[in-house]
Amino acid sequence: MSVISYDAIPYEGTAVEASHPRRLAALGRLFGIDTPPVAGARVLEIGSAVGENLNAIAAGLPGAECLGIDNAPRQVAAARETARRLGLTNVRFEVRDIIEPGADLGTFDYVIAHGVYSWVDAPVRDRLLELCAAVLRPNGIAFVSYNCYPGWHLRLPLRDLMLFATRQLQVEPDQLVGHARAMAAIVARTALALESRLPGGPLYARVLARELEFIADRPDDYVAHEHLEPTNSPVYFADFVAHAGRYGLQYVGDAWPLRMALPDLAEDVAAEFESLAPGQVEREQLLDFVHGRTFRESLLAAPAAVVRRPPAPDRLRGLAVRLLGEFIAPGEDRFDPALPKLVHPGGILVVRDPELLAALRYLSERRPAAVPVDELERLAGPGRFWTAVAPRLLRLYLQGGLQLEAEPADLAAQPGPHPRAFAVARDQASRGDPMPVSLTHAVHEVPPLPLALLPFVDGTRSLDDLALVIVEQLAPAAEDDAIRAAGVSFATARVAAAAALQWLARHGYLEA
Ligand SMILES: C[S@@+](CC[C@H](N)C(=O)[O-])C[C@H]1O[C@@H](n2cnc3c(N)ncnc32)[C@H](O)[C@@H]1O
Repeated sequence: MSVISYDAIPYEGTAVEASHPRRLAALGRLFGIDTPPVAGARVLEIGSAVGENLNAIAAGLPGAECLGIDNAPRQVAAARETARRLGLTNVRFEVRDIIEPGADLGTFDYVIAHGVYSWVDAPVRDRLLELCAAVLRPNGIAFVSYNCYPGWHLRLPLRDLMLFATRQLQVEPDQLVGHARAMAAIVARTALALESRLPGGPLYARVLARELEFIADRPDDYVAHEHLEPTNSPVYFADFVAHAGRYGLQYVGDAWPLRMALPDLAEDVAAEFESLAPGQVEREQLLDFVHGRTFRESLLAAPAAVVRRPPAPDRLRGLAVRLLGEFIAPGEDRFDPALPKLVHPGGILVVRDPELLAALRYLSERRPAAVPVDELERLAGPGRFWTAVAPRLLRLYLQGGLQLEAEPADLAAQPGPHPRAFAVARDQASRGDPMPVSLTHAVHEVPPLPLALLPFVDGTRSLDDLALVIVEQLAPAAEDDAIRAAGVSFATARVAAAAALQWLARHGYLEA
């Protein structure tokens, strides 16, 4: 069997939104931990690969001190090169092995291990958690992600098939994924052709076909390390928590609180479910059985920390709130005065309470910036805020309608006279990455014109200058119809540049 090493096929990765220390600090505080200030934090990323995540964190937190470790030298070299290009002096990348990382690492406020735990052998998994426990400061937070069951039970047949089909293939690593995809497709097509005659019925053939469809638009480096890597050992959430507990690490919560929530259900169905689950871990494990979950991003606290459940509204103090989803507010065409609504990732909230409506309206106007809670407190008045608004905001956060951050990034809600985009996004866009990272540490598929313009939005150009860039530089060389059309005249370019800047502002790419 060909073994895929991270040096042969580097894992390109992306920024991992939920791993940002601003998010870890906020969630920790909500669960009663006095998490360290983010601006000057010490941040360790274990398995930092080519540095896509940590370089963006370091660029957004210039006062933080960041260290990335990985045992694949080619990836470490790539991460260093990006840091050098970006002029970052607060991040280091070092070749170190989780098994023997060295005694000189020091301690950290935030530790990130994304996509490592279930992709390494059992002794490395043990050592990874031991390392998190050893280096995490008492009020720090560790973010650990992993593939999980029961969802992976349905993904393993395709992985097993791909591993088997390629076991004796002697090809270059970069050819392996193509061969594996093609061979698996033949088997899946054969199974589908026979599906009604298969002993297990059509379900198995459909599982294979569905998985093939799922990986069809995933990049080769993802498939290589997910389906052709010798080690990919998903775990049950409850077993992960127990494993972390062996090193004294305590489960705090899911990096996406929405995923800890039971979706909107009829009351009797919800009550029946809740009656099965005696505690937080059991409850979340049962939810994984409900959702068939395949992947988790868990937050862990240090052995000495005191985790307080459930989160309480007064712990919102000092945090900042960003609205997610779409608020259909007074003044908008679709506004129904009887039913102002927030349509958010976790569902639809009908806003009946005037104080909550005022807060959501305010948050909506300030989007994508996260608004400090004390500003919302001033809006409602302290008495009403803490008794009426904060509990509702907390509930909405836990249901997926809000994001919480500590020390949020300064974003421009509107482009200024000389707009400046996040340096990391500019660098990524100039290198052809279609999904650059925003100041909120999210990645978006950026439409062609804003993407092409991004490298030029560097604080030195006005709207007119950017329109000229479209006419003189981008349109003549563009393959994209929209960019060529934008460049037919200065007037069209100016309108298009303004719209592109609006897009970038709305998605959190422009600095205040
Ligand atoms: C699936 S990749 C995830 C990379 C990155 N965190 C991301 O999500 O994009 C796993 C990473 O762990 C690193 N790794 C695996 N075993 C390791 C070990 N024993 N010591 C240090 N790094 C290791 C690999 O080199 C690789 O970069």
